[in-house]
Amino acid sequence: MLKNFWYAVEFSDAITSTPKRLKVLNQDIAIYRTHTQQVVAMQDLCVHRGTALSGGWVEGECIVCPYHGWSYQADGTCTNIPANATDIPIPSRAKLTTYDVREKYGWVWIFMGDIPEVERIPIPDLPYFDDSNLKSLHGDFLWNTHYTRVIENLLDIAHVPFVHAGAFGNREQPQIAEFAVDSYPNGAGATVMLNASRPKGLWGFLASKQPQVVKTRTAFFMPNITFLEVHLVFGRLIVYNAHVPIDDRTTVSKWINLRSFFTGNWADDDARKRVLKIFNQDKDIVESQRPQIVPYDLNEELNVQSDALQVEYRKLRRQFLRDR
Ligand code: FES
Ligand SMILES: [Fe+2]
Repeated sequence: MLKNFWYAVEFSDAITSTPKRLKVLNQDIAIYRTHTQQVVAMQDLCVHRGTALSGGWVEGECIVCPYHGWSYQADGTCTNIPANATDIPIPSRAKLTTYDVREKYGWVWIFMGDIPEVERIPIPDLPYFDDSNLKSLHGDFLWNTHYTRVIENLLDIAHVPFVHAGAFGNREQPQIAEFAVDSYPNGAGATVMLNASRPKGLWGFLASKQPQVVKTRTAFFMPNITFLEVHLVFGRLIVYNAHVPIDDRTTVSKWINLRSFFTGNWADDDARKRVLKIFNQDKDIVESQRPQIVPYDLNEELNVQSDALQVEYRKLRRQFLRDR
């Protein structure tokens, strides 16, 4: 488990003054927004009797447990035990584990590790989020498998002609031209010329001159972000994903889609359907993979040239599992 990393775990606009429960790396987390708009994340377990705090409510900066009304402030310290007389001190052990939180790129990021800020790998610099010409759209997708398999699916070029035949891939031309892998500080990417099929539906109107070969860029940023950029004749399509590791068998991809064409809200439904169609084409295949966690040993599965980016991911993951 890579615990000493910032994980993007939810969309900022999904965190309000109504507490909610998140599960990340098998841990239950209560998360809410205070009256000063700060996002607070803490263990979702009241130290009094183990009740889920996410079932409670927010008062100012504090979250109140729904069982006996104990209040906890943002640093996890209990500040009120209603059943006690006011002159009885609050036990020093009445304190919750809290997690550092940041908001960036429209996601909430949580740090659940045990190293100080100065030693942490920072949240990655991600391009295009500040480009006001791009229309943004976001949503969730559930996978019943480990997030490492989901990440590799997003990095995998050679499956496109098979799994996405017709939607994007071209089964008549499955060869993948050799490509270079570029390393980032904590990730890697590759630009691949992909033999594509012509888009259908709404996009088909724009695509009459669409070339057979489409330039695509795929990348990953440890531990859970993937990036895909597709250069279509009529514009650019960018798909970011935060693949949230719920537990060893469950992943939710919090995707953000940026497009340079059809930038009105009217085209959002169509764009959303396209993302979900691609994910749904992948879902059964990815969930069928065994073992569900990507093996760390490069000899355990077979790697060919078109798997170069996934090989880089496996190497980095193995390195960080050792170091962090
Ligand atoms: S269990 Fe939370 S206040 Fe009692
Ligand atoms: Fe796919």
